[in-house]
Amino acid sequence: MNKLIAPSVLAADFGNLQRDIEMVNRSEADWFHIDIMDGVFVPNISFGMPVLKAISSHATKTIDVHLMIVDPDRYIKTFADLGADILTVHFEACTHLHRTIQAIKDNGMKAGVALNPHTPITVLEDVIQDLDLVCIMSVNPGFGGQSFIENTYKKVSQLKELITSCNSSALIEIDGGVTNKNAKKLTEAGADVLVAGSFVFKSEQPTETIAELKAISN
Ligand code: DX5
Ligand code: ZN
Repeated sequence: MNKLIAPSVLAADFGNLQRDIEMVNRSEADWFHIDIMDGVFVPNISFGMPVLKAISSHATKTIDVHLMIVDPDRYIKTFADLGADILTVHFEACTHLHRTIQAIKDNGMKAGVALNPHTPITVLEDVIQDLDLVCIMSVNPGFGGQSFIENTYKKVSQLKELITSCNSSALIEIDGGVTNKNAKKLTEAGADVLVAGSFVFKSEQPTETIAELKAISN
């Protein structure tokens, strides 16, 4: 399958947000990755609904929203209305994960679950068939620009096995510290979607960096 690149808008220049969104529109990127942080589930606050609304009004590609918030059920409909195509919640933030996944789908979005670096793949055994995406965090969530955790490769292989054995169609997304150094090894291990924030937006030529990641991964 075609491997997908999802630039993380968290690393964009917020003073030139429209310019950066349009750069992604014109590039070989496949999705927009949008990080929503509440300062409770993670020790950082990113941006909220008005900013997502502005992004949606310019973005022409799939909007992949990664919620790093407690009690995400409160905002599922809001994110659907704001244009999210995929809504990913954290396993660690959901007491009734099965119900949350169904609510995301009932609101017309694809459903994703993210796992922190310490959370084993096995916790997804009983929901994997219901999922459209699993996001393996390859850094501790909360900040861009952190170093990639090497244990991620093992988790990607384990998740791939689980998906295959359960006949699930879930995509494997990797989030955090993705660069041209680890992209190939990640897709070879089974990753389908690579999120990249700093590596894209802090580079001299973001459009070329996206093309480079796309070429390496496929
Ligand atoms: C981290 C976020 C990531 C972040 C990735 O909590 O979920 O999406 O933006 O940024 P980089 O690619 O800089 O690690
Ligand atoms: Zn993210």
